[in-house]
Amino acid sequence: MKAILLAGGMGSRLYPVTFGVSKQLLPVYDKPMIYYPLSVLLMANIKEILLISTKEDINSYKRLLNNGTQFGISIEYKIQNHPNGLAEAFILGEEFIGKDPVCLILGDNIFYGLDFTEKLEIVVKRTLSEGRGTIFSYPVSDPKRYGVIEYDDDGNALSIEEKPDDPKSNKVVVGLYFYPNSVIEIAKKISPSKRGELEITSINEYFLKGKKLDVEPLNQEFIWLDTGTLQSLIDAGQFIETIEKRKGIKVACLEELAFQKGYINKKQLIQSASKMEGTSYGNYLKNKYCK
Ligand code: DAU
Repeated sequence: MKAILLAGGMGSRLYPVTFGVSKQLLPVYDKPMIYYPLSVLLMANIKEILLISTKEDINSYKRLLNNGTQFGISIEYKIQNHPNGLAEAFILGEEFIGKDPVCLILGDNIFYGLDFTEKLEIVVKRTLSEGRGTIFSYPVSDPKRYGVIEYDDDGNALSIEEKPDDPKSNKVVVGLYFYPNSVIEIAKKISPSKRGELEITSINEYFLKGKKLDVEPLNQEFIWLDTGTLQSLIDAGQFIETIEKRKGIKVACLEELAFQKGYINKKQLIQSASKMEGTSYGNYLKNKYCK
């Protein structure tokens, strides 16, 4: 299983903040936003990752994440020349994906919840063995901003609409998607939407109509945050701060996850921690693992 981490776009809803820096590099409390979706890929045991971003920003990601060896994974890079839509990721990533199934995760989505690792492992296994796609649904108060799922009386997904004026439910599609390899050819077939984008919703509709899409609910206790607006970015930072301080943990601590997975050894963990000595992130690693 390969994964694409999408970190392009204009970040226009955050101007002027994002005139000079990529949105997904902005801090969410104590670490760059991109750490959060990257941590989900580590949790899902996906070690081959393609990061897609703009021509202007790609080098900043390379500087931050290198080739991934510090986390025991492999990160490759690809430029998206224009924000043509999420589904373009599969076309740009065709060579990288090869013959494998693929996960797509949006660089501005944050996931936090119990049993998420187990859920991810099940979905990865199913994608590998059954050739079906999986998306996740989540209840929100403002569904108009997202891809919205329509259900029948038995709870089966009937349709998905992108940013509808009149949402058919409050359950929306989060920015984490798993597909069999056929997604590449499907992405090549779909047409741009009215707003001129190759929509991920068109891909999901295609799988849904072919009865090859599973919609996994993320329950109320699960936390899914997107950071598309200034307020949601502030809220996300405050949420992470509260959780980390209260529980004495670090969310999306990539070195810790990589160490727990056995992707890096203690020496590598200590090396990384020592580069960040004096920061709350570095001190957390040092106090927990460098005794
Ligand atoms: O966050 C979940 C939602 O993400 C889904 O419910 C929607 O169905 C899906 O279309 C998407 O909606 P957004 O309005 O949030 O998409 P946005 O255009 O903000 O792009 C999401 C991320 O992907 C953002 O970090 C920028 C990046 N991006 C976006 C586009 C259009 C790219 O890297 N390239 C692109 O071409």
